[in-house]
Amino acid sequence: MLLKTVLLLTLVAQVLGLENGLLRTPPMGWLAWERFRCNIDCDEDPKNCISERLFMEMADLMAQDGWRDLGYVYLNIDDCWIGERDDRGRLVPDSKRFPHGITFLADYAHSLGLKLGIYADMGNLTCMGFPGTTLDKVELDAQTFAEWKVDMLKLDGCFSTRQERIEGYPKMSAALNATGRPIAFSCSWPAYEGGLPPEVNYTLLANICNLWRNFDDIQDSWRSVLFILDWFVKHQDILQPVAGPGHWNDPDMVPAWKGMSLDPQSMKAPLPC
Ligand SMILES: *[C@@H]1O[C@H](CO)[C@@H](O)[C@H](O)[C@H]1NC(C)=O
Ligand SMILES: *[C@@H]1O[C@H](CO)[C@@H](O)[C@H](O)[C@H]1NC(C)=O
Ligand SMILES: *[C@@H]1O[C@H](CO)[C@@H](O)[C@H](O)[C@H]1NC(C)=O
Repeated sequence: MLLKTVLLLTLVAQVLGLENGLLRTPPMGWLAWERFRCNIDCDEDPKNCISERLFMEMADLMAQDGWRDLGYVYLNIDDCWIGERDDRGRLVPDSKRFPHGITFLADYAHSLGLKLGIYADMGNLTCMGFPGTTLDKVELDAQTFAEWKVDMLKLDGCFSTRQERIEGYPKMSAALNATGRPIAFSCSWPAYEGGLPPEVNYTLLANICNLWRNFDDIQDSWRSVLFILDWFVKHQDILQPVAGPGHWNDPDMVPAWKGMSLDPQSMKAPLPC
């Protein structure tokens, strides 16, 4: 009887997943990438460039327009915020576009009842070529994000080897935990391995990540939305059992802006029935 209980507990423990208390329901919020990409030209395009101004404006809209009260609380920075590493090796935001630093932005988000998400890349460079989080920088970057009072980290996987990802994602999970600050952890890892077993171990992912990007980036077209939906439907028997409170599949953003519905090219794909 005791043995049976122990076995049962072992099974339960395996499906419980990462226990940092976060993302009991799938995260809701706003991420800059789909609409603003890597626009860093604040001289020519000050209203649409990746800058603290943009995130403060979005924070205001999320609060004022009722999104926050519906549960859209994560205000998330994607790629292209980094300026450099300083002489101590620490990441610093671009000083022209984020003149007050990330702590200022986190405080601003928190003052409005929002949470701030940030982006890094488990590799030599971010996807757009900014400094990456190599294995030797994982702990330092986790510490930096915690000091900045960040609430969520998306860790991308460009410019890394498979072996670096195998080591780096669990290492970052442990490093975030060690900071003592609850930081939701979004892992792009499976999207870099084809999204399916045996290359992807979803049991392991559920133990170290709150959220994982399974498959391709979504683009601003119905064709892309359907392509991703089809993939998730096709592989639902693998994907559905690994999701639950605290650990979720991530089909990518909801590309909710007028460009998509107005693009005639994108409407050629058949709609799901
Ligand atoms: C990362 O940079 C190192 C050092 O320059 C290089 O040897 C390695 O090939 C790079 N890895 C990837 C995946 O680009
Ligand atoms: C760290 O991990 C332990 C064990 O899973 C958990 O109880 C704790 O809440 C975690 N702390 C943070 C800050 O994530
Ligand atoms: C997947 O990861 C889990 C948890 O780390 C481990 O127990 C299991 O052996 C792994 N499965 C495979 C097929 O490697």
